[in-house]
Amino acid sequence: MERIGGPFILAPLAGYTDKAFREIARSLGADAAVTEMVSAEGLARNGEKTKALLERFPGEDRLIIQIFGPSDDPVRRAMDNLLEYNPTVIDINCGCPVPKVVKTGAGSALMHSPEMIARMIKAIKERTRIPVSVKFRLGWDSESINYLAFADAAAEAGAEMLTLHARTRAQGYSGKADRNAFMELSKHFRGSGVLLFGSGDVFTPEDAATLIDDCGLDGVMFARGAIGNPFIFRETKALMETGHYGKAGLEERIATAEHHLSLMVRYFGENVGCREMRKHLMAYIKGIPGSARAKDAIAVAITEEEMRKALSTLLR
Ligand SMILES: Cc1cc2nc3c(=O)[nH]c(=O)nc-3n(C[C@H](O)[C@H](O)[C@H](O)COP(=O)(O)O)c2cc1C
Repeated sequence: MERIGGPFILAPLAGYTDKAFREIARSLGADAAVTEMVSAEGLARNGEKTKALLERFPGEDRLIIQIFGPSDDPVRRAMDNLLEYNPTVIDINCGCPVPKVVKTGAGSALMHSPEMIARMIKAIKERTRIPVSVKFRLGWDSESINYLAFADAAAEAGAEMLTLHARTRAQGYSGKADRNAFMELSKHFRGSGVLLFGSGDVFTPEDAATLIDDCGLDGVMFARGAIGNPFIFRETKALMETGHYGKAGLEERIATAEHHLSLMVRYFGENVGCREMRKHLMAYIKGIPGSARAKDAIAVAITEEEMRKALSTLLR
């Protein structure tokens, strides 16, 4: 746990957890953050797209790099380049439900194959002592729940950290995450020294506290609950330490959205930065009374100035 800084981590979110969002989350209390999923094959080939995903923000001291791939072969070939980035932890994606990924045998398709995840972990372990983690689901569907056997295979192969997204592949991102499964996982691994994290339906500080206090997990990954609401890290820490927390006010929400926008533009240029920022801004202003007009303006804004102007209308 010392290595990753603490129990509250920004989950891997493709299309979201770039260095700008990770910087915002860390500044508000996230102990560490995970990159967007990165193709092992892309890493092996040293592709430009892959390299961009792995850049750190200035001062980013901890970075969990998540890779995806169908087998140990691309992982083995990716290792030289992966180690160049000095990951804090190397995580393997066994949860992605997207057909394009699954049909190659990667992501949640790996749930069918505990032997393969063991081989992938061993391919990493042959090369480095950097801790390995696996993020996986309950199983492929409700007929094939196998998370405990899968977790056993990963731990036996040497994984030091396991993150269960307590839904099946068939559920995608809908349906309730199964908290009972978190309890089963923590019972199963009690005393083993494997770090156990939970993911799924963590939308409030109370949700996170439940996973740790009631389900017995070591930590939590915040995913959709942190989009537009990175304050959830600070709030959760306050809740765990003092039993209560204050919500971020309107001014802080807008100021954080503006700061996030400025980082996006600094890191990715105005064009790409504004385009990628749109979905974040929509999330930041969700639920603010009178935000409908600002949303319309953000939907068509293509410059930083236009986006700032739309945000400022919310403060009047
Ligand atoms: C837009 C989006 C992108 C995601 N990308 C990844 C990813 O790259 N790797 C991964 O392991 N999980 C990914 N996830 C899954 C999340 O990390 C998390 O496990 C899931 O959203 C459940 O948590 P939640 O219900 O609290 O959102 C993604 C989820 C969403 C909604």
